[in-house]
Amino acid sequence: MFDRLSAPIATLVATHLGLLPAQVNALFAPPAKGVAGDLALPCFQMAKARGVPPPTLATELAGILTAAGITAVATGPFCNVTFDPAAVATTLLPLLSPAGTVNGSRSGGALALRSTLGAGQRVCIDFSSPNIAKHLAFHHIRSTMIGNALAHCYAAAGWDVTRINFLGDWGTAFGRLIAGWKREHLTLEQLTAAADQVTFLNDLYVRISAAAKADPVVEEEARHWSKALEDGEPEARNLWQIFKTASLKEFERVYGLLGVTFDSWKGEAFYEDKMEPLLAELASKQLTSQDQGATVVDLPTLLNTDKVKTWKKPVLIKRADGGTLYATRDLTACDDRFSEFGFSRSLYVVDLGQSLHFQEWFAVARLLQRPYADKLRHIGFGVVLIWNDEESAWAKGRTRGGKIMLLREVLDEAIERAAAIVADKNPDLAADERAAIARAVGIGAVVFNDLKNGRTGDVKFKFEEALRFDGETGPYLQFAHARLCSIERKAEHRTGGSPVHLTNEAEKAVLLAIARLQGALERAVELDEPSVLAQALLTLASAIASWLTSGNSDLNARVLCADSAIAASRLSLVIAARGALGEGLRLLGLIAPERM
Ligand code: ARG
Repeated sequence: MFDRLSAPIATLVATHLGLLPAQVNALFAPPAKGVAGDLALPCFQMAKARGVPPPTLATELAGILTAAGITAVATGPFCNVTFDPAAVATTLLPLLSPAGTVNGSRSGGALALRSTLGAGQRVCIDFSSPNIAKHLAFHHIRSTMIGNALAHCYAAAGWDVTRINFLGDWGTAFGRLIAGWKREHLTLEQLTAAADQVTFLNDLYVRISAAAKADPVVEEEARHWSKALEDGEPEARNLWQIFKTASLKEFERVYGLLGVTFDSWKGEAFYEDKMEPLLAELASKQLTSQDQGATVVDLPTLLNTDKVKTWKKPVLIKRADGGTLYATRDLTACDDRFSEFGFSRSLYVVDLGQSLHFQEWFAVARLLQRPYADKLRHIGFGVVLIWNDEESAWAKGRTRGGKIMLLREVLDEAIERAAAIVADKNPDLAADERAAIARAVGIGAVVFNDLKNGRTGDVKFKFEEALRFDGETGPYLQFAHARLCSIERKAEHRTGGSPVHLTNEAEKAVLLAIARLQGALERAVELDEPSVLAQALLTLASAIASWLTSGNSDLNARVLCADSAIAASRLSLVIAARGALGEGLRLLGLIAPERM
């Protein structure tokens, strides 16, 4: 969308220098902070090709553009362009709110967040992927919401998205749980009667682990049941299924709160009996060796050179007792995904702590010459630290009376706190609407806090900060959106406005911020970085705030002024901005209420 403004400039420059417009277009950047202008053209490369100093070329180009009626000045090696507000409005507004359909076009501004970059290619996104029989802890928010935001962004950018929850539903933990269950003669009735079934299973796990530590007989029982489970023994399988069902019920509840869905739930267990062909192939290609009874792919021997010693240790593929491992399951699952979906890209949204695991099995995929080997991406992220009131410090988990807070509990508390703020700000709302708003705002606060900064950094979460209406927060964006909705409601009967009345700088800033969203979306996808979109939305919201508050404190009067032609134009901009902001929030996984 922004290229509608920059294309004429690219063409002028390209013609002058004998380049292709696309070559010039690729150079455009936002001007440096504090520099006046809407678009910067760095002249380094073009100057080098011409054999002149960059500032000389910048001055030359500024002259060419000025002669064509464009405001351009050279600042050192940059040629900075300033757009005319009326030209921006005439170019952009019709794209964002098609004429005559102002109040009808509820999605005009959302078009700013569409791209065809993906060209219908398939992307698989493996995210959330928790381990069953355990609660979703607060840190699970990260994979879940980064993955969810990426899934929305890829879809908006023209990709065909498959959302995968690769449940951790396999491993020795389940043998232990079964041993505990049998030892304590527990029944399905007892489990279903429990107020919280996952807590019931968690507690059982803690008890049996302690018992196994103290008593080798118990440890032996756990091993026996692990083996029974792997061998497909019916009683073991049956109990495992019971544990899985109980966990899924709890997961669904949290996903429901967060508005997260999946297309595939094939977890690790699904692949348990499908790994033989892979093991056989590895062996036939002479990629495996034996190491103390275990089967490994010896990456140091296979890949390290005299000079480059990237790999430190072999990858375990099969344990000495015959059990398979995480890397083997990931490889098998990837083969399956590729044959089912034929993906062009496959993302694994998993914390940075697992980087080595992904590097290793990606390397094995390359050794196997899988056609998908260069399409795999590990989307790592840092840890989330939560303010711990009891210890007055940032910690990996906030504890309540010594117990780590669960994701569900953090969300519940955020909703509760948001409810108090909403009741205070908007006491006239009906109770059920207020509850819905509190939910959107409370959850939005937690989610946006997680997405607003680069994903590889650590995140700090503090309720008071995340819930502020005036910081870089989800509620701030939601509030800007609700404000625009409120203006629209008051203008129920206006019809489409002409761009000619949008002539001031504040209006231009809003339009440019909307037009830049498409580029932000594309970058968010290419870098797998939802924060790029989050930051672009913050810029838009602050442009909206400056526009609505500049000059006149009465926001409604500012838009819905006495001159109905001007009012209609401004209303078109309100609608475009509301549509863009609402859609941007949706892509990040936030709900944007119409009132707050
Ligand atoms: N279940 C794993 C864990 O909780 C994460 C799985 C990530 N996805 C994958 N394909 N390995 O640590």
